[in-house]
Amino acid sequence: MESNFNQQKTPPPPSFSIKKQNLMVFQFHLLLLLTCILNNPIPVVTQSWDGIIVTASDFEALQSFKQELIDPNGFLKSWNDSGYGACSGGWEGIKCAQGQVIVIQLPWRGLGGQITSKIGQFQALRKLSLHDNLIGGSIPKELGFLPNLRGLQLFRNRFTGSIPPALGSCPLLQTLDLSRNSLVGTIPETLANCSKLYRLNLSSNSLSGSIPLPITKSNSIIFLALQFNNFSGLLPDSWGSGKVFQSLTFDHNFFSGALPVSLTKLTQLEEISLSHNQISGSVAVEFGGLSKLKSFDLSYNSIDGSIPTTFSKLGLLKSLNLAHNNLTGEIPTFLGEKLNLSSFNVSYNNLSGPVPTQLSSKFDSSAFIGNLDLCGYSPSTPCQASPHHHHHLPPPNTKREGGGKKKGDDAEAGGKGRAEAPPQAEPAGEAGGKLVHFEGTMGFTADDLLCATAEIMGKSTYGTVYKATLEDGDQVAVKRLREKITKNQREFEIEVNLVGKIRHPNLLAMRAYYLGPKGEKLLVFDYMPKGSLSTFLHARGPETPVDWPTRMQIAKGMASGLHSLHTHHNIIHGNLTSSNVLLDENNNPKIADFGLSRLMSAAANSNVIATAGALGYRAPELSKLKKANTKTDVYSLGVIILELLTGKSPGEAMDGVDLPQWVASIVKEEWTNEVFDLELMKDASVIGDELLNTLKLALHCVDPSPSARPEVQLVLQQLEEIRPESAMSSGDDGAAGPSISE
Ligand SMILES: *[C@@H]1O[C@H](CO)[C@@H](O)[C@H](O)[C@H]1NC(C)=O
Ligand SMILES: *[C@@H]1O[C@H](CO)[C@@H](O)[C@H](O)[C@H]1NC(C)=O
Ligand SMILES: *[C@@H]1O[C@H](CO)[C@@H](O)[C@H](O)[C@H]1NC(C)=O
Ligand SMILES: *[C@@H]1O[C@H](CO)[C@@H](O)[C@H](O)[C@H]1NC(C)=O
Ligand SMILES: *[C@@H]1O[C@H](CO)[C@@H](O)[C@H](O)[C@H]1NC(C)=O
Ligand SMILES: *[C@@H]1O[C@H](CO)[C@@H](O)[C@H](O)[C@H]1NC(C)=O
Ligand SMILES: *[C@@H]1O[C@H](CO)[C@@H](O)[C@H](O)[C@H]1NC(C)=O
Ligand SMILES: *[C@@H]1O[C@H](CO)[C@@H](O)[C@H](O)[C@H]1NC(C)=O
Ligand SMILES: *[C@@H]1O[C@H](CO)[C@@H](O)[C@H](O)[C@H]1NC(C)=O
Repeated sequence: MESNFNQQKTPPPPSFSIKKQNLMVFQFHLLLLLTCILNNPIPVVTQSWDGIIVTASDFEALQSFKQELIDPNGFLKSWNDSGYGACSGGWEGIKCAQGQVIVIQLPWRGLGGQITSKIGQFQALRKLSLHDNLIGGSIPKELGFLPNLRGLQLFRNRFTGSIPPALGSCPLLQTLDLSRNSLVGTIPETLANCSKLYRLNLSSNSLSGSIPLPITKSNSIIFLALQFNNFSGLLPDSWGSGKVFQSLTFDHNFFSGALPVSLTKLTQLEEISLSHNQISGSVAVEFGGLSKLKSFDLSYNSIDGSIPTTFSKLGLLKSLNLAHNNLTGEIPTFLGEKLNLSSFNVSYNNLSGPVPTQLSSKFDSSAFIGNLDLCGYSPSTPCQASPHHHHHLPPPNTKREGGGKKKGDDAEAGGKGRAEAPPQAEPAGEAGGKLVHFEGTMGFTADDLLCATAEIMGKSTYGTVYKATLEDGDQVAVKRLREKITKNQREFEIEVNLVGKIRHPNLLAMRAYYLGPKGEKLLVFDYMPKGSLSTFLHARGPETPVDWPTRMQIAKGMASGLHSLHTHHNIIHGNLTSSNVLLDENNNPKIADFGLSRLMSAAANSNVIATAGALGYRAPELSKLKKANTKTDVYSLGVIILELLTGKSPGEAMDGVDLPQWVASIVKEEWTNEVFDLELMKDASVIGDELLNTLKLALHCVDPSPSARPEVQLVLQQLEEIRPESAMSSGDDGAAGPSISE
């Protein structure tokens, strides 16, 4: 049987021919790609299948994996041959490297049954994602035999039994999500042995016991989610040696005893949720030191004492829920004055005195009811007319904090010139990699990114661009920068944080970047399914014409994007081509590839200038100048507008002259109409003036003399005059445009 499939004849590898406009399409994983980088200084791009048939052991394990699952919807129908398809891309949900299965990814497939114990045979398995199915039985302890396992996503299934302690022997495990199952028993303390584990989610099960001490000392766990279980006993007070915890969600359990003061050593904490437990005692003043805390939920416990005045230091706090406790004293005014809370609730306590007006005006009375002596938060709870008796609570003890405060000031002053802290970093991926998201991002993790399916879209001087499909179906464009061409990491991060924040409807937005542990760098952008303007214009059949309004919309959008780069961001593009202008689904252009030279070392940039330019977009003076400027960008813009007008690519041979020269020679010979794309000419009677005026403008932009070229702002303005936004082609509006007579 073993020989049966190994002997099978391998068909010849698919051959790819590189034709102009024909992008080569390869399928593989970014993760694989990074593995390539890690192992080879010169990355080898692999095609969908490395040509190696699945190993006998993995094949056997796959068969028994399928056998023990119930597949009512037939998703595993493709697992039908004698092994050939397993690694060559034929089997749904399977990815391999060198004949070994590295990813099994079958979420939302309605699968039942259970996971085979042969799972331990997948020695190369990195990711097992079976969430949102109906799989039951116990979680096989054999998963603990997988030395390469990084992600185990089994949430929203029907697993029973307890968590196998053997999982603690997965040295590379990063994400363990077993939430929403029916697991019982305790948390194995061996999980603390997983030194790469950063997300541990055991929520919504029936787990019991307390939190093992080794877990509280983890140096890797960032997210610890234990909510909706049957945990009980005291919360351990041994936190603080590992300082990376950001989120502790322990709500809806039976934890009792005091709120451990050692939690305040976890200086990265952003979220604490302990609601619906049996916590008693008061909140220690030290909690005011959790300077990154955004959300603090202690509701439905038995906490007494007053709201600590040190809470005034929780400058990032957005949400404070203290409802249903036994708190006494007044509500400090700083909660309204100094903090900017978007959610606040102290209902059902034993608080007294007036509610600060900033709070009563922001939150409705349900946030305050159930406190017998609290007043002023609704018409039916007026305060006695002696407001002067209610002083502000004393400010926090500044003397005691003197040292710490000074230190903070210094740090701030020193940080002035530096880039802002990255908006959201999460360590993940390959040991020590870092993913930083920019605004408007999709919520993927480094793990998601590295496990995405990727296809090559193109290569350029600075690197290779891939289309990556994340597990949830979202698509992003990922640019892998060539090695050893970027600035050092600190400078790189400063620059990338500037470029990454640029937002304009005609500039392609950077969504995130990833820094691998060995210096690999990935930039993540919006994916534009329509591809580049170059492809759109030049790689289509006669049956798909591009009308004039569309071409004009593209010209205006490009000018608007370039204008924003020049005037608002002080960035010269330097390589504007129709391949670097992408189109969204509405044919709105997005300029790509701007600002990249800022990320590169001076040496790399000078090499680039020396080699660039054969493309037909380069201003003639650049051969001497060696440095692009706004006028060389305008030249490139002019070439692209000529492309839109003529339908010709600057790369096309036109009797040995470039596109601007060719156009100029024809116009000079007064065959002007010959210059336009034929398909535009059928509407010439209506749009003739617009065509001529645009042609005139474009020739202006490609004037051999830089000083004769307009700045992009003027180009934009003239395009808008030639064809006003709501395209009023009748009446007097048209006459306002420049007339073409010569
Ligand atoms: C195996 O499954 C694939 C995908 O469903 C199908 O195209 C192919 O015909 C099947 N082959 C056999 C031998 O059933
Ligand atoms: C893992 O953790 C357990 C208990 O915390 C410990 O006894 C053991 O030595 C650790 N190492 C391994 C490899 O399991
Ligand atoms: C944990 O799992 C629950 C339920 O699946 C989910 O709502 C929550 O966002 C998860 N938390 C973390 C930190 O992964
Ligand atoms: C959860 O704990 C409570 C009391 O601590 C107990 O009564 C209940 O049976 C437990 N539930 C499960 C599913 O273990
Ligand atoms: C609040 O304290 C009172 C008196 O000590 C006690 O009777 C009551 O049960 C406590 N309420 C809560 C919610 O802990
Ligand atoms: C307060 O927070 C809201 C959103 O939660 C924000 O819009 C507003 O600008 C913030 N105000 C200040 C003064 O920070
Ligand atoms: C509420 O606080 C008052 C003092 O402010 C105290 O006399 C009373 O016993 C408290 N009630 C409860 C239920 O704790
Ligand atoms: C405050 O908490 C109580 C109890 O959970 C809830 O009924 C009420 O809607 C909350 N009010 C606000 C403004 O959050
Ligand atoms: C300029 O853009 C082209 C695509 O139009 C690309 O092939 C080339 O590598 C880019 N050059 C630089 C220096 O970025």
